Amino acid sequence: MTRLWGGRFSREPSALMQQFNDSITFDIRLWDADIRGSIAYAKALARAGLITRKEAATLVRGLRTIHAEFSQGAFTVKPGDEDIHTAVERRLRELVGEVAGKLHTGRSRNDQVATDVRLFVLDAIRELVGLLEDVQAALLAQAEPHVETLMPGYTHLQRAQPISFAHWCLSHFWALERDKHRLRDCARRTAVLPLGSGALAGNPFGIARRALARALGFAALSENSLDAVSDRDFIAEFLFDCALVGVHLSRLAEDLVIYASAEFGFVAFDDAFATGSSLMPQKKNPDAMELARGKSGRLIGNLVAVLTLLKGLPTAYNKDLQEDKPPLFDSLDTLRLALPVVAGAVRTLRVNVERMRAALDPAMLATDVADYLVRKGVPFREAHHLVGRAVALAEQRSVGLHQLTLEDWRSIAPHFDADVAEVFDFARSVAMRNVEGGTAPDAVRRQLRLARRVLSARSRRKPPTASPPPAAS
Ligand code: ARG
Repeated sequence: MTRLWGGRFSREPSALMQQFNDSITFDIRLWDADIRGSIAYAKALARAGLITRKEAATLVRGLRTIHAEFSQGAFTVKPGDEDIHTAVERRLRELVGEVAGKLHTGRSRNDQVATDVRLFVLDAIRELVGLLEDVQAALLAQAEPHVETLMPGYTHLQRAQPISFAHWCLSHFWALERDKHRLRDCARRTAVLPLGSGALAGNPFGIARRALARALGFAALSENSLDAVSDRDFIAEFLFDCALVGVHLSRLAEDLVIYASAEFGFVAFDDAFATGSSLMPQKKNPDAMELARGKSGRLIGNLVAVLTLLKGLPTAYNKDLQEDKPPLFDSLDTLRLALPVVAGAVRTLRVNVERMRAALDPAMLATDVADYLVRKGVPFREAHHLVGRAVALAEQRSVGLHQLTLEDWRSIAPHFDADVAEVFDFARSVAMRNVEGGTAPDAVRRQLRLARRVLSARSRRKPPTASPPPAAS
């Protein structure tokens, strides 16, 4: 058994302690980052004259073999492989012999694991940005043909004012756009190299940190070794970003659950993204959306877990920090599945234009009637009050607001003319909201152009990323 720290101990840890202490069951996922980091570190050791070029070449060759083993699913974890760092070093020794013992010179698992997780998060961010864009693309595709499809817009889930379906689609598009910006911003702070910080005090062998950073794709060096080995801010930030994505997905999902109900009937999910009931044969349930909504709970939980973990830790590394990984992996895995499902469900959504239109109620134009009075010189507060009285009158008569006669209107205010009838036109109401960001078709077309541009920049804008795989380095 190859423990990295056995020297001062005379007895093996108890089986229970090993089980409690080992992290290999989950941190094995860092294998790619760990091997990349070690390849770069082996080269840095040679550059610093701590090992010969030949020794470095031997180490790199061994590490590449291990990388290939992992890639092919051929790596076997052995008893004593406490964590991914131990496992890789143990295997390296099996492959290249005693020279493997030189790889860890000046390095600690503390700066190693901090480096690995940063590389992992940078990859995760790149992946999530791509998956977010797939959801955005689905929303955009749904929006395109529905610039003039009218539906009720709601506040307090009460019919408020008419909007277009495209406008609704794009409202969720922009929330996801902000999520992408947040993730890219998180990447800037993640791309800071801790390697060279040693256990806590720094590397004593004059290792060239700048070259290490360049080789691994980091944009900057950590400024303080104590901070570097204990800083997990980037994980907390990443988990916040994931949690907010979850919150955004849950809101999109909730809208669609409501819109897909028989009472609304605005949309229908494709069979591929719905499920049935084991008891009621007629049921078609929006489980995809309910799960997307429900999974936001664990995304928020993972953030809270890591914040709680970090709170009150004494300076530098503490084993508590090993617990940062399960929440990190879980949030990534959750979104890795939820985002493509939401993208698929949105892409295949069927829109019922007639049902949307039928849900429009002339009372939703009450604000437009008030605006009509404003254009005739009535102060808005007063106009609001007068139209409120008209609504009450219509209610009392059990007629629609649009069915009041000119006489009725005149009884409320002398400013009303026959042209008040023109206000009762949903398309006109929507078209008037032509300000930037409004729901008017022209304004929504501007939005669409902008949204298309955001997505076409896709491949060009990448967050700072990690180095290419070992074979290419
Ligand atoms: N498995 C450990 C972790 O994830 C690696 C670092 C161990 N460092 C130590 N001083 N025991 O945090």
